[in-house]
Amino acid sequence: MSWALVPAAGSGRRFGGEVPKQYLCAAGKPLIEHALDALLSHAGVDGVVVALAADDAHWPGLASFHGKSVITCIGGGERADSVLAALHALPAGVSKDVLLLVHDAARPNLHADDIRKLIEAAKTCPDGAILAAPVRDTLKRSGAGARIARTESRDGLWRALTPQAFRRDLLLRALQSAKADGVVATDEAMAVERLGLHPALVEGREDNLKVTTPADLALAEFLLARRA
Ligand code: C5P
Repeated sequence: MSWALVPAAGSGRRFGGEVPKQYLCAAGKPLIEHALDALLSHAGVDGVVVALAADDAHWPGLASFHGKSVITCIGGGERADSVLAALHALPAGVSKDVLLLVHDAARPNLHADDIRKLIEAAKTCPDGAILAAPVRDTLKRSGAGARIARTESRDGLWRALTPQAFRRDLLLRALQSAKADGVVATDEAMAVERLGLHPALVEGREDNLKVTTPADLALAEFLLARRA
């Protein structure tokens, strides 16, 4: 059994515009709907909790999708607060050791095979697992005046993607510990790593992109339209 948690309470300020980026449309529907579709059409996912901004005016009021529960809650000031809120909103009866897949609302091009690989890895690795992609570009460290200080090795470097999958009790402990220590975890694995644990890296598809800029949206449109 596994549930998905989808933090969707961000304002999308980096993207600009009036509509939060998770509600922008690509290939005929909002990015968040693509994300929920991918998660809930997968046999391994039993339901989802979506964390929304308190003043969200765009949520379509979805209560179920693919015959599975869609529960909403109010998110928080940081992504991690929204994930924590979603975790607390899981319905009674969902077990303490259920596997939770945390997935960005603005990551619409998730494929079933990546979900399957992630769930398999998280079932065998007690520290959880995340989808990730190896860094392909040469990395430069900037110095004064935006001049190159040095080239960093990309050996062993990965870009963290989502979903990221952890047992419920571990994720709760990790997020609560980061919050108590005033650490803003930018992904769930970071909070888990702080406990001295080592989640598994599962190589995922490079095109599981997070929409952050207008160029990302154009690419998402292309990728999603090609799948339709
Ligand atoms: O801003 P960023 O792209 O890192 O956001 C990743 C995901 O986290 C988005 O789906 C966004 O809506 C969500 N988020 C949230 N609560 C926040 C900030 C971001 O749910 N306070």
